[in-house]
Amino acid sequence: MAATKRTARAPARAKAHGSRRVLVLSGPNLDRLGKREPEIYGKTTLAQIHEQLAVAAEAREATVDCRQSNYEGELIDWIGAASDDGFAGILLNPGALTHSSYALYDAIKGSSLPVIEVHLSNPESREEFRKTSLVAPACVGKVAGFGARSYLLALTGLLDRLTT
Ligand code: DQA
Repeated sequence: MAATKRTARAPARAKAHGSRRVLVLSGPNLDRLGKREPEIYGKTTLAQIHEQLAVAAEAREATVDCRQSNYEGELIDWIGAASDDGFAGILLNPGALTHSSYALYDAIKGSSLPVIEVHLSNPESREEFRKTSLVAPACVGKVAGFGARSYLLALTGLLDRLTT
């Protein structure tokens, strides 16, 4: 059974604001934010990030549905269903799958939605294997290196893109 965590303030069936429903996905090990290598990823927990996103989205008359999974297939299922589920775009922090998953690349390409790649750290300034993102070519943009704020900056960018 896949361990799925939903810690959004705005649940999936929250009142939608037209085309301003955003799906926020975080991949493997991001459930441990706050405890996991805080010198790299900071002390903010994923639940706190989700709360901040919900507040920021509400201020812009949007909603977020925030989910985390340690399972590649579950992330792929969510991305594949996102358009049918009424989402207008996706923020995706794939964790280490960024550097290994062609399946996520295919899922993003097939989703027909704008997807923004998000990272707390700046992977390109770290170990060699982190310098390659397999998902980047399928995404409309990327925000990396701003800690927990990367998610908020990505939300701003996505909502701006959806309204212009
Ligand atoms: C990460 C960067 C990845 O290289 C790493 O595997 C993660 C977190 C980030 O948010 O900085 O799990 O995606």
